[in-house]
Amino acid sequence: MAFSVPFATMLPPMPLDLGVLISGRGSNLQAILDAIGTGKLDARVRLVISNRPGVQGLARAEAAGVPTCVVNHKEFASRQAFDAAMVETLREHGVSWVVLAGFMRIVTPVLLDAFPHRVINIHPSLLPAFPGVNAQAAALAHGVRIAGCTVHLVDAGTDTGPILAQGAVPVLDGDTEESLSARILHREHEILVHVLDAVAQDKLVVEQHEGKPRARLLGPALALGLQDVLHDKPTEVST
Ligand code: GAR
Repeated sequence: MAFSVPFATMLPPMPLDLGVLISGRGSNLQAILDAIGTGKLDARVRLVISNRPGVQGLARAEAAGVPTCVVNHKEFASRQAFDAAMVETLREHGVSWVVLAGFMRIVTPVLLDAFPHRVINIHPSLLPAFPGVNAQAAALAHGVRIAGCTVHLVDAGTDTGPILAQGAVPVLDGDTEESLSARILHREHEILVHVLDAVAQDKLVVEQHEGKPRARLLGPALALGLQDVLHDKPTEVST
């Protein structure tokens, strides 16, 4: 049986007060801001933190009237000290959920313990394939025919936490890292907003499965992108 342990943690109700951590362009942040702006997502971005000064994502936040803060990892002696500074700032701004939206730093238990089961990451591969950096290039180099993205809860490993949603895209002949990344990015924006909407509606359940946390979203299963990758008729097999 898939879910045999008899407890489920219903994670918290509205309002969804987000802290978004970025390192650069901030298009996933923009997708969140746009979804809030059009009423598709019932949440508030209370704070955007960048570990790098001057990045485009900070300008996006400022344009939306969202408070921003630079916590420069280079100014801290350890990852733990860096995370502790972020935790303090996130708490000061009333953040209850943390979204890693293109945040290119490994986080430590200092952050994870401050927001247990409330740190969400978007990663540009179909995990557990291609964790870590340069996932799209790794998928191309491997020759996969279906690529995609994953939204997951963050744990102490690198891109190993419980999966919340995945979106698929085809890999096309002639794809470059840039063209594949752009196709995946579009899908990222969809599944990240979908997951946050589910969280805002209190539809995220974390359960124990064989001694490890496993997450699921209540309601109809999301199969984003399968219409794109399943456009060919299946091969007929004669027996
Ligand atoms: C996105 O593709 C995101 O999945 C990836 O960085 C990009 C950020 O884009 N994150 C990672 O690779 C984390 N391991 P954005 O700044 O435009 O949202």
